[in-house]
Amino acid sequence: MFKNVIVRKPSKSLSNGITSNPQYGQPIYENALLQHDSYIEALKTCGVEVQVLNGAEEYPDSCFVEDVAVCTRSFAMVTSPGAATRKGEEKEMIEVLKGYYENLEYIKAPGTLEGGDVMMVGDHYYIGLSDRTNQEGAQQLIDALMKYDMQGSVIEMKEMLHLKTGLAYLEDNVLLVAGEFIEHPAFSDYKKIVIPEDESYAANCIRVNDYVLVPTGYPKTQEAIEAAGLKVINVDTSEYKKVDGGLSCLSLRF
Ligand code: GLY
Repeated sequence: MFKNVIVRKPSKSLSNGITSNPQYGQPIYENALLQHDSYIEALKTCGVEVQVLNGAEEYPDSCFVEDVAVCTRSFAMVTSPGAATRKGEEKEMIEVLKGYYENLEYIKAPGTLEGGDVMMVGDHYYIGLSDRTNQEGAQQLIDALMKYDMQGSVIEMKEMLHLKTGLAYLEDNVLLVAGEFIEHPAFSDYKKIVIPEDESYAANCIRVNDYVLVPTGYPKTQEAIEAAGLKVINVDTSEYKKVDGGLSCLSLRF
């Protein structure tokens, strides 16, 4: 069960967020704020306490708060973002995390790691080796996990921005998979829900207690999740999609 969620409001500079899809246009700030409010409401429906931090104009991607920490049952890892324009975002999270955790760990250079590359399955953490997360950063997280009686393993990646761009663990051995992860041997023992290519953005769902948050506008994915017996809440994240963001990136859940 998750009790706490941390989110960070989008800043006006979100329009300059990193994107691999400039053809979608720039996010409209007012709409992004409204969508963020709906996201918070959906999270509250799931029964969590939500701490809302202010956005940071100097960091266009700072609302994607998932990338700056990994929150486990025993410690929080303050990460070291691999994207040049995101370096430093993590520093502002340290005092916030101290309000919840006695034990903080830190990814140190030359290690880089972004939380979007980390998928929790119970006490095991899969860590994607992406353009943002390197082997050194992944190993530092694995070493920290082992210190607290948990484990981690690395997943080689070729295409996706982050590991959770194409994967979402929905508990009870059910895994949403898209793209390069559909046939990946590391996930062969899961009950897979395969996301069709035309809905691949919807692989970035989040299970929060009794609900799965699913982006608005992906009916095949929603139907498959409901067919697995799970309750869905839709949240429109279309403004965040324009800058490669989605439901998991927008919060830390623990
Ligand atoms: N725009 C989200 C990210 O690149 O991290």
